[in-house]
Amino acid sequence: MSDYFCGLNIFVMKEKLRIGLFGYGVVGQGLYDVLQSTPAFDATIAKIVVKEKKERNLPDSMFYYNPDEILEDPEINLIVELIDNSEDAYKIVKKALQKGKNAVSANKKMLAEHLEEMVSLQKENNVSLLYEASACGSIPIIRSLEEYYDNDLLLSVTGILNGSSNYILSNVFDHNQSYDDALKEAQDLGFAESDPSFDVEGYDSLYKLIIITLHSFGIIVKPENVLTYGISNISEFDINYAREKRFKIKLVGQVERLKDQNITLFVLPRFVGRDKYIYSVEEEFNGVVVKGKAYDKQFMFGKGAGGHPTSSAVLSDITALAHDYKYEYKKLNYFKEFKYFKNGTVEIYLRYSDSSVLKNFKFDSISEEYNGPKYSYKIGFVKLSSLIEINSLLRELDIFIALTGKSLNY
Ligand SMILES: NC(=O)c1ccc[n+]([C@@H]2O[C@H](COP(=O)([O-])OP(=O)(O)OC[C@H]3O[C@@H](n4cnc5c(N)ncnc54)[C@H](OP(=O)(O)O)[C@@H]3O)[C@@H](O)[C@H]2O)c1
Repeated sequence: MSDYFCGLNIFVMKEKLRIGLFGYGVVGQGLYDVLQSTPAFDATIAKIVVKEKKERNLPDSMFYYNPDEILEDPEINLIVELIDNSEDAYKIVKKALQKGKNAVSANKKMLAEHLEEMVSLQKENNVSLLYEASACGSIPIIRSLEEYYDNDLLLSVTGILNGSSNYILSNVFDHNQSYDDALKEAQDLGFAESDPSFDVEGYDSLYKLIIITLHSFGIIVKPENVLTYGISNISEFDINYAREKRFKIKLVGQVERLKDQNITLFVLPRFVGRDKYIYSVEEEFNGVVVKGKAYDKQFMFGKGAGGHPTSSAVLSDITALAHDYKYEYKKLNYFKEFKYFKNGTVEIYLRYSDSSVLKNFKFDSISEEYNGPKYSYKIGFVKLSSLIEINSLLRELDIFIALTGKSLNY
């Protein structure tokens, strides 16, 4: 490169970034590596706070164990929070913002549970909190919703938001593995936690969907008010049913605009045919379909997890902060207020073995049913609100539910 271009340095910043990093696990170490490979970007990790003393691949002198080592250090002008404990993450990020420091976080649970406060804290303290890595890892969905899809055309965002459950479903459908074997393999490869419920019960997708919903339609919905059902009850019967119809089953999070300034959102398994973009999202990948008036459908695909992919989104937030970027939360401010509508009617497949469970479901109509010696199923329309009312019970019953993709009354 000529001296002329070096002189132009696109990364010129007003103030050198001195980063205080919380957490040196999968993503924290990924960020350290990724920063080493972008020498043009002049930022230094000044201190790292972790939970406990252990052998690490950096000098001991870099590590601290008290959050105030970073939060009270006036030389540190940016904090990057990459820890795995959402309550501690909340305290760290809140204090950083109150202290006037910009922050980056990847903690979807913390963010989804405290979005309203996080938006206010930024405004009150005139600071910026960015969190691209919290939803779909390396896929730049939040900034795209905030900057590109910043108008009234957006109709829905639908995605495979969780890599672990997709890895499991992918192995079940493409490699004929049993659910238990696929889960074990995902755990052995580090895609799923030893307690996989966060991923397979749909909570990880839910927290991401809450964040996506804010940036799509400017509305903050409480996670506990959203229908969330995962894949842990899937049986061979359900898999065979889907195969016979040439479908795959995918765990899908969706937020959709309805008529009259209403939106609806949910996380549910869904039968997906070949004609859908997400049909071909396999293994630990994520895929997001953005649908709008005028442009119809657009599809973003990429790695939703892993140290390096996730830290590439963290790096992008850091460089954005170096250029004074902040989310304007345009849709919170500019749009007419959207309301969360729970009374939409969707068509579900309900598989059960004991017909006594049926008393919990209020079908408006039934289009298909089967009664077998071990398993039976019904396909019909139900109100989302009737499923939200029994959301925790759904996980306890010996049933499996999947959306067929048809909906009414929207
Ligand atoms: N892994 C991914 O692919 C991925 C993708 C997207 C988003 N995320 C999000 O990124 C964050 C980090 O995930 P991870 O996979 O990197 O976690 P991880 O590998 O389990 O590492 C967690 C790190 O946090 C540190 N830690 C925990 N509690 C702490 C506390 N109270 N104070 C200071 N440090 C603390 C741990 O310290 P020790 O080293 O001392 O144990 C460890 O270094 C999470 O919010 C996660 O949801 C992860």
